[in-house]
Formats: sequence, C-alpha cells, structure tokens
Amino acid sequence: MSAAAELVPDEDFVRVCRLDELPEVGAAAADIGGTVVAIVRTKDGSVHAVDDTCSHANVSLSEGEVDGCTLECWLHGSRFDIRTGLPSGPPALAPINVYAVKIDGDDVYVATTPQNTTPTHLER
Ligand code: FES
Repeated sequence: MSAAAELVPDEDFVRVCRLDELPEVGAAAADIGGTVVAIVRTKDGSVHAVDDTCSHANVSLSEGEVDGCTLECWLHGSRFDIRTGLPSGPPALAPINVYAVKIDGDDVYVATTPQNTTPTHLER
C-alpha cells in the first residue's frame, strides 16, 4: 500500500487506507502529505502509525517485523516501541515520531502531525 492520502476537510487527519488493506500483523507505508509513515497492525488488532524511516539510517521500517508493540528494523535490528516511538534495542538511539490513528468504519485515518510526548533522545 502506498496510495496517496485523502485529506479530510477541517481535521488534521488524513485517510490512508481501509483496514483490510493492512497486513493482519505487520506494517505498510503510506504518504500523509509528504511524510511517509508506517501503518502498523499488531496481533491484538490495534493500529498505530510511526515514521517509516529508521532513526539509525534511511531505510523503511514498514519492511521490518512486528512483534507485539515493537517494530524491528530489517537492516540492523533496531527495535522501536510503536506506542511511544522510543528505541528499545540498538543500534538506534533516537526515537521516531508517533502519529495518532483513528478508525472510522473500515477506514484508517492518521494525524498529519506527530504526537510524541516522549524524550527526544534515549539516554544510555
Ligand atoms: S538502519 Fe535501522 S537499525 Fe540500522
């Protein structure tokens, strides 16, 4: 999936896809007005959105593996908590942005601005 997002007037959310276009457990990339995000569905059916670009190098996180609430980068194995954006496994030290998700019927909407409330850098 990488369809152009559909703007919703008077709201800060864009429609990115239908629920049934997402993998049962996994991630897919979507463009929300110039920012590519990874739309992630977990085993419990919850849907999250995070930056699609790994904070360690310029690769697509939506091509990684989903394990619980963790998205693992396919290149060097950094793991990110998709609820907070914080890295939970090296080598990445910087968090990724997290975006609010709304489900309306069969449609998935993602906020156009990130909602991170976490520290901007993980202390090690
Ligand atoms: S590029 Fe993602 S961990 Fe290195």
